[in-house]
Amino acid sequence: MKNLFTNDYVLLENYLSPEICQRWEKKILSHLDIFGADVEPAYGQMAAYYGMIEAGLNESYYRFAEKHNKYLLKEFPEVAGVIADAGRLILSHSGLKPDALPVVPRDKKYFQIGGFNLQLQSWDLYNIHTDTEGLLQYPASIFEEKTRAYSCVVSIKRTAQHSKDRGGDLDIWRQRVLADALDGFYKRDGYSARSNKLREKVPYKVGNMMLFDSFMPHVVIPFKIKKKDDRRISFVVHFNYRKHTERNPFPHLEYWY
Ligand SMILES: [Fe+2]
Repeated sequence: MKNLFTNDYVLLENYLSPEICQRWEKKILSHLDIFGADVEPAYGQMAAYYGMIEAGLNESYYRFAEKHNKYLLKEFPEVAGVIADAGRLILSHSGLKPDALPVVPRDKKYFQIGGFNLQLQSWDLYNIHTDTEGLLQYPASIFEEKTRAYSCVVSIKRTAQHSKDRGGDLDIWRQRVLADALDGFYKRDGYSARSNKLREKVPYKVGNMMLFDSFMPHVVIPFKIKKKDDRRISFVVHFNYRKHTERNPFPHLEYWY
């Protein structure tokens, strides 16, 4: 839908209360068997589809998604409201009525509705990228101008270093770069940006919600974790516009993790 906004972001500061963030953080960090990088029970409860594909376990993702969603909604009940708010925000920020389109899960039985990204170790990688993972099911769409895709990230936990050097914060380029145009965005080294003219700083303060056109290049500023508590947690959902799917045969905003 071409009315949906592009090349822009919305930052809602203090969107989630410190109490909720702390409760989520505590629950997550005390259940690393469920949320960690190598998680138990088998096949990575709470892992994203793209993570599972990388691990060659996509069939496990489908098999466990329904269970994961139930767990998520039971233990983190505010999640449903966060997703609904983000969906409405995409529409209202596009100048449409907040209920102009249904905002529906891709398929609650086979896809997770949202999830947590954890960084439990120091993050050295300076990885400027666009978010095309939410479009994994629609490979051609990462090259198409008409694609509308959004990333929603809520900061739940920050590292202790952030106040000094912005480690863990986000920088985003106010330009929309489709997958076939990325060569022109990067220098010849293939990973640093050719220009910083359109680069903007976004504070990832605990509780902030950041919603952006997934085709805007962005980078998490590297950070160090010196002790257990210095970790980083964010809640993530991806949205994209679909005119019609088998599961939802009407124009809608689809979301999944
Ligand atoms: Fe990203």
